[in-house]
Amino acid sequence: MKRVLRLAAATCAASALLSTGAQAWAAPAGGGTGTAPGYDKQDTLRRLAPQDLVIGSAVAGGGHHVDMPYPDPFPNDAQYREVLAEEFSSLSPENQMKWEFLRPQRDVWNFGPADEIVAFARENHQVVRGHTLLWHSQNPTWLEQGDFSPEELREILREHIQTVVGRYAGQIQQWDVANEIFTDQGQLRTEENIWIRELGPGIIADAFRWAHEADPEAKLFFNDYGVEGVNPKSNAYYTLIQQLQAEGVPVDGFSVQGHLSIQYGFPGDLQRNLQRFDDLGLETAVTELDVRMVLPPGGEPTAEQLQKQADYYGRTLEACLAVEDCNSFTLWGFTDKYSWVPVFFPAEGEATVMDEDFVPKPAYTRLQEELAEARPGRQVTER
Ligand code: G3I
Repeated sequence: MKRVLRLAAATCAASALLSTGAQAWAAPAGGGTGTAPGYDKQDTLRRLAPQDLVIGSAVAGGGHHVDMPYPDPFPNDAQYREVLAEEFSSLSPENQMKWEFLRPQRDVWNFGPADEIVAFARENHQVVRGHTLLWHSQNPTWLEQGDFSPEELREILREHIQTVVGRYAGQIQQWDVANEIFTDQGQLRTEENIWIRELGPGIIADAFRWAHEADPEAKLFFNDYGVEGVNPKSNAYYTLIQQLQAEGVPVDGFSVQGHLSIQYGFPGDLQRNLQRFDDLGLETAVTELDVRMVLPPGGEPTAEQLQKQADYYGRTLEACLAVEDCNSFTLWGFTDKYSWVPVFFPAEGEATVMDEDFVPKPAYTRLQEELAEARPGRQVTER
């Protein structure tokens, strides 16, 4: 049954349901870490979600965190870990499965942090999204400046994909096999992307084939930002995926990252865009949602800004819920304490659904409401 029909039939009184949730993750007095006293675990996002939709978060670590004045978040922040386990049914390593993190030297593998995320997911009955295998960014210097022949490079990529995907075979629900391969104009990144530059576009199909061989169960995705709406970039994916399907390449999904900003307007054709990929027989997903804003002097967002942000979060989820095989909805972090946004956009922030003390914002409540309305009554996911 199309989920859109379930939405129309929804009768749940979300406001009553949510009345207890608003301060759910207020930090304990004194701001310490640990459990959150009085937390009502009934209305967590994962519990409210329909059974055919996982609700995910990026797992903070690597990347910008390395330069921040706090310990590595995932292994060290007990309160963070508790919320991660309670609220989410899917985890995406934020940086820990990227080339530069996982493979600092050609023969040096750093699987520890990624292994810990996968083990945590298993313990907490969560699935994992693997991120990512073929990308132009966050590649190690030894690779980018290695002066390899095309034959060597091809072998390095094949070995990498088969080693990493094989290591986690059966434990990864979806892999972002190819990440951000097109420019905003819909051209392949033939200069920036070492693989496409040195080996030609055919390497994309090979990457999917190798990943499929290494884990036939994992769903294999194209993933990008700026493809929420129908535009030259998403059109380029639409065309490429049809070509690959015609050649029998094992492509299973297309995902939109969803790095949105309230200053740019909501991509109102998001649902239509996801639907056209669904119509190709693909799964779709929202993989990195956050909604940033330009902060007023003093750094506090206004009530209007927070409402607009909540609206963007809600509409993104609504679009996913309305598309039958949009089955994974992931936030790029859930607390401002660890968000990448202020690091990249110095005047902006507040992009996640909880503040730095894990206090939920209107955006969190709006997600609860959308999820509660997605079915007539709550479907509790087994934990
Ligand atoms: O490049 C420098 C390097 O020269 C230096 O040695 C190193 C040490 O501090 O910093 C390096 O840059 C950092 C980079 O990660 C690589 O580690 C940046 O400062 C840092 O901001 C960056 O952050 C990550 C970013 O991807 C890199 O693209 C973020 O933590 C991560 O959240 C973000 O995630 C991406 C997704 O993977 C793909 N979609 C977009 C999303 C947001 O950018």
